[in-house]
Amino acid sequence: MNFHEVAVESVRVRVPAKLNVALHVGPVADDGYHPLNTVFQAVSLYDEVVATATKSADITIETPAAPDLDGPSNLAVRAAQLLQERYDVDGGCALQVRKNIPIAGGMAGGSADAAGALLACATLWELDLDHHELSGLAAELGSDVPFSVLGGTALGTGRGTELMPLLVRGTVWWVLAFDDQGLSTPAVFGKYDELLAQGHTPQQLTEVNPDLLRALRTADALALAPLLANDLSVAAVALRPSLADTLEAGRTAGALAGLISGSGPTCAFLARDESHAIDVSNRLSATGRVVRRVAGPVPGARLVG
Ligand code: C5P
Repeated sequence: MNFHEVAVESVRVRVPAKLNVALHVGPVADDGYHPLNTVFQAVSLYDEVVATATKSADITIETPAAPDLDGPSNLAVRAAQLLQERYDVDGGCALQVRKNIPIAGGMAGGSADAAGALLACATLWELDLDHHELSGLAAELGSDVPFSVLGGTALGTGRGTELMPLLVRGTVWWVLAFDDQGLSTPAVFGKYDELLAQGHTPQQLTEVNPDLLRALRTADALALAPLLANDLSVAAVALRPSLADTLEAGRTAGALAGLISGSGPTCAFLARDESHAIDVSNRLSATGRVVRRVAGPVPGARLVG
C-alpha cells in the first residue's frame, strides 16, 4: 500500500451465525433452487468484517484464520463489488474478516461475511441504503444473506430470502458441536434430490408447525424440543455418516434435543437454560468434540465501530 492508498476510514461490523430451528424443503424448482419453509434463528457466534477505504478501486480481502478464502470469489468481495457497481462508487476498500463461524458448517458463515461487507461498505461509502434496498442486494448475493442482515428469529420462505420476523421473548440456549470438515451446501441439496427420487424424503414442502412457532415465541425449550426439524438431515448424514454419532452423543450428554444446522455438518443441541447448556457442553466436549455454547436470538449485522 503506498501513501495515496493509506486508509482514510474504517468501519467494523459484527454478524451472527444462524441455525435453522426448522427446515422444510420442497422438490427443486426450475431455477435450481429448492422452495423452503424454514425458521431461522441468529445465535451468539459472530464473524467481524472491517472495511477500510482505499483510493484505488480494488477490493481486497484478508481472512487471517483462513487465507484460502481470500480471493475474488469470496462472497464478501462480491458484496463490496455489487455496491461499487450499483452505486458508481469511485474508491475501493480493504476487507478484513475475523472468522469464528465455521466454514461450510451450515451456519451461514459465508453469508454472514457478505452481509457484514454490505453493511460495512454501504456505511464507509455513505450510501444511505434503507433496509429494503439492503435486503434486495443481500438476496442477489445468496439465499441466507438477507437473514444475516436481519437477525433475530424469522420465518423464511421462497429460497429463504422472503423473511417474516418473529417476536421472541426470552433466550434459547444451544450447544454447538463443530465438525473438522465442512459440507458443501449444493452437494447436500443434490443428495436430497437423489433421496427424494428414491422416496426417502417428504415428496412435498411441509409447513412449519404452528406449535413450534408458539414454543419459540416464549423461548419454551421443553415445548420446542420435540418439534425441531430438518428435512436435509438425511442427506447430510448420507454424505457424512459420523453425524449420526454426533447427534447420539448430544442426546447422551443430556440435551433436550438436537439437529443438524442447515445443510450441516454443525450440530445444534437444545438446552433448558444456561446452566444446563454448560452441563451439556462439558459432557459433549469430554467426548473429544469441539463445542460452543450460544444463545439466541441475537440481532443481525450491526456496526460496532
Ligand atoms: O443461494 P446460495 O448461492 O447460497 O445457494 C447455494 C446453493 O445451495 C445453490 O446453488 C443451490 O444448489 C442450493 N440451494 C437450494 N435451494 C435453496 C438454497 C440453496 O437448492 N433454497
